[in-house]
Amino acid sequence: MLEGREGPAIARAMDLLVRYGEALGAERLVDTNNVCGTIGATTPLLRDFAAKRGGFDAVFSEFNLDSDEVVPTPKVRAYSCHLQLGIDPLHAEQLGTAPEVVTLLRRGEDFVSKMGVQLMNTCTPYLVGNIPVKGEHCAWMESSAIIYINSVLGARTNAEGRESAGASMITGKTPYWGYHLDDYRYGTHLVEIDTPLEDIADWGLLGYWIGDIVQDRIPVLTGVTRAPNLGKLKHFGAAASSSGGVEMYHIVGVTPEARTVEEAFGPRKPVERLHFGAAERRAAYATINAMAHDTKVDYVMLGCPHYSIEQIWEACRLLEGRKVHAESNLWIFTPRAIRHLADQNGYTRIIEEAGGFLMSDTCSAMSRATPKGTRVAAVDSVKQAHYLPSILGIQAWFGTTAECIDAAVTGRWSGGLR
Ligand code: F3S
Repeated sequence: MLEGREGPAIARAMDLLVRYGEALGAERLVDTNNVCGTIGATTPLLRDFAAKRGGFDAVFSEFNLDSDEVVPTPKVRAYSCHLQLGIDPLHAEQLGTAPEVVTLLRRGEDFVSKMGVQLMNTCTPYLVGNIPVKGEHCAWMESSAIIYINSVLGARTNAEGRESAGASMITGKTPYWGYHLDDYRYGTHLVEIDTPLEDIADWGLLGYWIGDIVQDRIPVLTGVTRAPNLGKLKHFGAAASSSGGVEMYHIVGVTPEARTVEEAFGPRKPVERLHFGAAERRAAYATINAMAHDTKVDYVMLGCPHYSIEQIWEACRLLEGRKVHAESNLWIFTPRAIRHLADQNGYTRIIEEAGGFLMSDTCSAMSRATPKGTRVAAVDSVKQAHYLPSILGIQAWFGTTAECIDAAVTGRWSGGLR
């Protein structure tokens, strides 16, 4: 491959992977048949580049293969999925996306699908059919997805970038280092929980608090008395990978590599013992809400990471028969495939009749888009509450889904820690 026998794009991809692996001290490459990354050109920089250099082969060469020379893009060798984008073509008007940008997006989708990449367009491919199994070697981007598949599914991935994921798609190889190896996957910090974790919001607060302390190391949680469901684990991981760079965690008795504390730590001893009780929960809540002070809420955003169908169902149960306040807005984000399911189940109609929108493919942090004039947002995602103030310069309240729906209906924030 490196010598070019399989064409110039494969040679460049292999050169990139070899340089990457050598920089990290990887002994070899490993086969992968599960890659999630981005290829398209939905940001202004990439759109300009595609226009000036004549199209998507140029974008793939430069931004996925690290090649100045434009080489023809081959079909993928590994099962590959596209992550979220910056645009929802069906809600271009609400997001303020120009028609010519939607046209370019459609051309990009054509390019991506001709390569053989699945157009999942979500940060949660594991919700829509890409569910790697325990031990499966993957090459995924997207911090909230990486932590989910490593921890909850027992799959093996490092946090890839656009370049390495693109190179893995067309070669079916990734450097054999980091989370592909048993030694990297053992716990480092013991976290004893002794406060009830009732809802998704509680799991977000726990994740935010842990990530801030352990940064990029591996927490092992004990004292979890009720097994969390998918939505809680999804939110916990996204929070821990926002305040820190956590890419893997263990919950003793819940996650697949932690049947016991001993299994979770393997040959290691905990470097630190942490305790999460009522005071730590209060502290995490205060930190995440520190940027918000105005109670008039212009915008409620739900669906970070993208909502599951169960979460849409729950939001609809809270919303049905009510109306979004005239001076507020409600946008909910989900994978494109789940939006089809929501259409079929009547949930899209419930949301739209209330005055909200069910969108896909993107989110406010990715698209940099909020309803016009937004100063204050309310979100049920710690990750979004962490990023929106810094990305868009707005205030963001964090609370439960019910508090957020109430804020959308009343136009006011009245949430608080129970
Ligand atoms: Fe997904 Fe956007 Fe959150 S891409 S994880 S919804 S920041």
